[in-house]
Amino acid sequence: MSVRIRLATSLDRDDIRDVHLSAFPECESQLVAELAANLLNEDTDPETITLVAEAGGQVVGHIAFSPVTADSRNRWLGYILGPLGVKPEHHKAGIGSKLVKSGIGQLSEKGVNVVFVYGDPEFYRRFGFSVEAATRFLPPYELKYPFGWQAMTLHESGTNERAVQLSCAASLRNPALW
Ligand SMILES: CC(C)(COP(=O)(O)OP(=O)(O)OC[C@H]1O[C@@H](n2cnc3c(N)ncnc32)[C@H](O)[C@@H]1OP(=O)(O)O)[C@@H](O)C(=O)NCCC(=O)NCCS
Repeated sequence: MSVRIRLATSLDRDDIRDVHLSAFPECESQLVAELAANLLNEDTDPETITLVAEAGGQVVGHIAFSPVTADSRNRWLGYILGPLGVKPEHHKAGIGSKLVKSGIGQLSEKGVNVVFVYGDPEFYRRFGFSVEAATRFLPPYELKYPFGWQAMTLHESGTNERAVQLSCAASLRNPALW
């Protein structure tokens, strides 16, 4: 079945919620579905990018990338990937990878310097994310699983060895998500 990746609109809200309610374990699915819906609404500057994957005319996957800001860096652009989910009956068909690659391609074209993700390194390293690239960047909240904090540099922004504190979009300002 062919898969199409497109920008999401507010009409996709219920489908996006359904993706995450079915993709994530019950203990976290409500929280993630809520986050996905909130990010779809959130007016950030620069803009939050939300993509959906459609197969057979149905939304079967979703990914969001929202901006993060660094305390001391004016002309630096950072984004964080999350959430990402694919409906279980469509797993292992390359849809999750397609969503990640498509989003990262768009961010790279926008000149974004660094993309972050908080997730399983086993999955994200295949795209070029690494724990090492994230070490100088302090996440907005204390992490329950610090080994999941990763980054990928898309465009170098000069050397700076100082630790950098990151802030995130309002939808992500919930310690339960970290
Ligand atoms: C993770 C997820 C988005 C992958 O979607 P998908 O469409 O199945 O991904 P793809 O088909 O592009 O890639 C699947 C590959 O990733 C692997 N994979 C999936 N989840 C993984 C994980 N947690 N750790 C390691 N590898 C993982 C699969 O085994 C598969 O490997 P293969 O290519 O060698 O067969 C999907 O499994 C999902 O929605 N999971 C529940 C929600 C979730 O965990 N989201 C990510 C939060 S960090």
